[in-house]
Amino acid sequence: MSLKLGVNIDHVATLREARYRGHATGEPDPVAAARACEASGAHGITAHLREDRRHIQDRDIWRLREAVQTRLNFEMANTPEIVDLALRLKPEIVCLVPERRQEVTTEGGLDVIGAEAAISETRHRLNDAGIEVSLFVAPGPTQLDAAARTGSQFVELHTGAFAEAWPDPARREEELRRLTEGARQAHALGLRVNAGHGLNYENLTAILAVPHLVELNIGHSIVSRAVFAGLPEAVREMLKLMADYPGGTTRS
Ligand code: PXP
Repeated sequence: MSLKLGVNIDHVATLREARYRGHATGEPDPVAAARACEASGAHGITAHLREDRRHIQDRDIWRLREAVQTRLNFEMANTPEIVDLALRLKPEIVCLVPERRQEVTTEGGLDVIGAEAAISETRHRLNDAGIEVSLFVAPGPTQLDAAARTGSQFVELHTGAFAEAWPDPARREEELRRLTEGARQAHALGLRVNAGHGLNYENLTAILAVPHLVELNIGHSIVSRAVFAGLPEAVREMLKLMADYPGGTTRS
């Protein structure tokens, strides 16, 4: 099974909000971006409706639901308002992420251990509505054990520490080892494994050493490259790099 690409289009909305915050319309349109990504081979579209609505707006998420033909991966915090919205929106999958107002983007993984009961309840409600659930977690054994106990279908391994460690070969290897062990453990626990955060055209080839990956969620670097190359080309280039992924779900 080939490795899938979910394109996170939040930063298209970030650019729009930089000029058109508070307006009913504006450019660039994240929904048009989603269509372009899908037309170029992306397997899914990811968008995060933050509590502070700093990039994606409510109208975007509803228009995305109409427009997305592949899979809509709705990133969200586990809060009552957003869970209610997700139950009405019915994305194919929800990825639960932590949210802090001060951060520029999602920085740490979820504390699944600390919020296990609340996450399990939300997982039940979303699954009952036909929505799959993924948890964005750093690759640590106790958090992954807790993720499995919630009954979630997926984990998304947080690759941020790996991306940060990239310039230092020793730290990079250590983070890759943690991701590899995390992927093996999650797979053994019956979880399907996605990964994302901070992946780019340079560090992508190294992440292909991690086994059991189903999908990568990549945003910032694709939107950045699109400034020069255009979004269709940026997506195609990333897919080309990902085509070298050797791992099927049977690798150990
Ligand atoms: N996955 C999750 C859960 C995220 O929160 C983000 C960032 O919003 C990404 C993937 C994509 O990260 P990046 O924009 O650095 O590619």
